[in-house]
Amino acid sequence: MKSKKGLVLLIIVCFLFAISLAGAQIQDVYKLHWEGAKFPPVDFTHKKHIEEYKVDCKVCHHKDPNPDQGVQKCITCHDIAEAKGDAPKAIDAYHKNCIECHKKENEAGKAAPTKCNECHKKA
Ligand code: HEC
Ligand code: HEC
Ligand code: HEC
Ligand code: HEC
Repeated sequence: MKSKKGLVLLIIVCFLFAISLAGAQIQDVYKLHWEGAKFPPVDFTHKKHIEEYKVDCKVCHHKDPNPDQGVQKCITCHDIAEAKGDAPKAIDAYHKNCIECHKKENEAGKAAPTKCNECHKKA
């Protein structure tokens, strides 16, 4: 009986571990929003940007030598409050990354969002 209980416990622990690993995988969509942000969160379709819009990892994860093996969050370097060293503050880094590409794409006939409320959508 005792070893059976032990086995059940082991299975549960393995299961929880598997879930925690799955949780660490890349999400299809990220809700971009930091604590204290005033504007509504931005639903960022990570998977679509890679698969449908064919954007290379390094365009965004520009400081990670090999994004497939892990990346650092933008706000690790791009501080929310102020520019730190060469790294512009987070709002400028995000807006520059996202909006400049969208403008370029739209000149080529696409319809990527460039207006505030197209990205910061009220729930
Ligand atoms: C258009 C920009 C963009 C592209 C292209 C992109 N990413 Fe991301 N990625 C992000 C953003 C934004 C986040 C959300 C985390 C953050 O804000 O730093 C993120 C999150 C991640 C995370 C999770 C990070 C964490 O700490 O939770 C991983 C891993 C990742 N990306 C890997 C990749 C890989 C691999 C590719 C290419 C196959 C890729 N990304 C392409 C912008 C991008
Ligand atoms: C390891 C630190 C680090 C990480 C992580 C990082 N950046 Fe940067 N970023 C910098 C630094 C430093 C600069 C200044 C120019 C340079 O060194 O490339 C910069 C510059 C930029 C610029 C150009 C700004 C300009 O005025 O030309 C953009 C846009 C940008 N980052 C967006 C992002 C985004 C989006 C993410 C997350 C997907 C991100 N960065 C992750 C450190 C980082
Ligand atoms: C290098 C180019 C590029 C970058 C960088 C980029 N995008 Fe996009 N984005 C696109 C393209 C292409 C489309 C699709 C336009 C179309 O289909 O008409 C798009 C569409 C979108 C859409 C609307 C469709 C959807 O998939 O939800 C949102 C929202 C969006 N992008 C958010 C972001 C955010 C937020 C960032 C910055 C973290 C970002 N994008 C960075 C190229 C880019
Ligand atoms: C292409 C998508 C996109 C567009 C267009 C856009 N933003 Fe953002 N913005 C972002 C992302 C991504 C962030 C970083 C995550 C977050 O919202 O906290 C951000 C952050 C911010 C922040 C800092 C966080 C906060 O909410 O306090 C402000 C302020 C902001 N944006 C205002 C604006 C305004 C005003 C406009 C229009 C002039 C605008 N944004 C247009 C994507 C966008």
